[in-house]
Amino acid sequence: MTTIGQPLDRVDGNVKTTGAAKFAAEHFYPGLTHAVLVHATISRGRIAALHTDEASAVPGVVAILTHLNALPMKPAPKPGPFNLTSLFSGTSVNYLQSDEVHWEGQPIAVVVAETSSAAREAAALVHAEYTVMKSVVDFEGAEEDAQPQPNNSFFPRGAKRGDAEAALATAQVSLDLRYTTPPHNHNALEPHATTAVWDGDRLTVHDATQSIDWFRTHLALRFSVPMTNVRVLAPFVGGAFGGKFAMWPGTILAALAARATSRPVRLALSREAVYRTVGGRTPSIQRLALGADRDGRLTSLVHTSVTRTGKVGGHFEQVTSPSSHLYASENILTRHDIVRLDLVPNHFMRAPGESIGTFALESALDELAYELGMDPIELRLRNETAVDPIDGKKKFSHRKLPEMYALGAERFGWHDRNPEPRSTRDGRWLVGTGMATAFHPGLSTPVNVTVRLSADGSVLVRCAFQEMGMGAATAQAQITADALGVPFDAVRVEYGDSELPMGPAAGVSVQTASTAASVTQACEELKQTLKSMARKTGGDSNEEILRRAKVPHVEAVIGSESRLGRIAGRIRFLPKFMREGQRWIKAASGVQFCEVRVDAETGETRVSRWVGVFDIGRVINAKTAASQVRGGIVMGLGLAMAEETLVDPRNGRIMNPSLAEYHVPVHADIPPIDVSFLDDPDPTTPLGILGAGEVGVVGVGAAVANAVYHATGRRVRDLPITLDKLL
Ligand code: MOS
Repeated sequence: MTTIGQPLDRVDGNVKTTGAAKFAAEHFYPGLTHAVLVHATISRGRIAALHTDEASAVPGVVAILTHLNALPMKPAPKPGPFNLTSLFSGTSVNYLQSDEVHWEGQPIAVVVAETSSAAREAAALVHAEYTVMKSVVDFEGAEEDAQPQPNNSFFPRGAKRGDAEAALATAQVSLDLRYTTPPHNHNALEPHATTAVWDGDRLTVHDATQSIDWFRTHLALRFSVPMTNVRVLAPFVGGAFGGKFAMWPGTILAALAARATSRPVRLALSREAVYRTVGGRTPSIQRLALGADRDGRLTSLVHTSVTRTGKVGGHFEQVTSPSSHLYASENILTRHDIVRLDLVPNHFMRAPGESIGTFALESALDELAYELGMDPIELRLRNETAVDPIDGKKKFSHRKLPEMYALGAERFGWHDRNPEPRSTRDGRWLVGTGMATAFHPGLSTPVNVTVRLSADGSVLVRCAFQEMGMGAATAQAQITADALGVPFDAVRVEYGDSELPMGPAAGVSVQTASTAASVTQACEELKQTLKSMARKTGGDSNEEILRRAKVPHVEAVIGSESRLGRIAGRIRFLPKFMREGQRWIKAASGVQFCEVRVDAETGETRVSRWVGVFDIGRVINAKTAASQVRGGIVMGLGLAMAEETLVDPRNGRIMNPSLAEYHVPVHADIPPIDVSFLDDPDPTTPLGILGAGEVGVVGVGAAVANAVYHATGRRVRDLPITLDKLL
């Protein structure tokens, strides 16, 4: 291999940095109009009257769509264990099809105008009267009403081994703690945007999406047109982090508005509209109890969570998932309980489950280490496991945590610390260090690709995957170049267009590995084809073989593009996937090390050093992989120290829907981040890839909290760790 592993620049770096790359809201069509959403101001009820006269009088207004005049749309697909499409519905609401309001912020009208300023002005002049119904919006107030999460194969209700409560009661050392994390909202650099154009009954949509193929299926269903009549384009996406995985109202309503007005429509959500209409991360209330013997061997691990979903949809955050995988214990109990609220349904946000679940688990491990007077790494090593802690049988396909603890400790200088809390001071700063483990399941999904080799030696890879800034196309070009033995520059990758072979959704850290599996298979087939051609034609190089055979190119096709072919592909994929799941636990993992400095007087906390060591299997591109996990760590620092959506408990209104009031880290908050990889291929995955997408964010919250405890002697069990909690 010559290109895989190299820190190559992104193939799309040039068009992005020069502004040539066009994002979803930057496509111009003749007659283009601009749409703005009008949001409900109650959390539940009915629209009694909608006054649009004043808004209609604004010069340039083309149409105001409401439930009274909107074209019919089919409802969203119903959730079901075999209905994957339903996973991609942000909500179950059929927008503008009834007078019902399900959350504060739900779109109740769309204003379409010749200019965006006219649309904005008019949208502010639409007035609604409501019949208000009783709603439940206060998460903490609803805790007592939490119910067990419905069980399903993607999102288990919990796991059990032995009798964890009994073992806890008799443990030599035990702790039983409550951790809480707030809701989070999505703040991608590019807010959600759609440009929608109808030509007869053919729909073209430029959208900032992570799920091109599912968007196409979903839009076709909602607008009752064949799937092949819908084209979804998303060659560039300005960050997504799970927020652009599902279909939210902006996309649907842009398509509806374009159909109603017979004009191209651009609907670019304002930052506030993203908060109002796109689900973020659930808050959580977690119980984390540990029982251990004096030597630090866990005898009991209890991890339960209460999270929320919306009454009109939402995702079951798998908060306790890391507690079923990370440590050996004879007795384990995990459980997910949920409350259903009248809020925009929460959905995926980077490492859903693991990122907040490890805040509790990895903080509690640190608390236990102090109880025992033991080094936190030593405590983890004593509970290291080679098999699934729940069933005691399933093996990890690639478990390298001890190596990473050792490497990270060395790079960080961990063992130089005085473990005594509040023992290290530098002027006004209390200095502390903390560590935590990261873990994120590695999954895969079926992917169709074509790889074509032309007589001029160039190679074209085609697949409708998504490029959200992480270097997806660059990685696949590297993989192709090595698989075919051609130079990196000879490979071109087409992506981000539903006309291309069916790609994966770029979520759950599956994209690189899943696409690589089909790309390598296609390259193998191509090599076989060339070999058999060479037997007839002779010729040393690919180019010469094709020239002698007088063919312009040869192509390998993986997967079928017909509707049934795609479904069949997914069905064929499933048994192997399930079999592997029975056999192996596959996961990316890592170790996070943090140093903080806390002002002894004010509680101001600065993160001053960071070391992360990760096992993502084989590293395809050293530069983009490091950037990916570094970005995850930055997002983790937001989760640890800044981010918090404030929901008004009276009416469910998000009170801080802007970057002025919802704080995310800025450059000055981020220390140098030292990232290293084991770079050792997983033996059970294509090319040994374990998925680098989300593991970087995991464990960051706990590493910071543990460092803050070490610095100050103060345990913060409620995120974010703001200075008021340290005074
Ligand atoms: Mo991810 S949270 O599936 O983009």
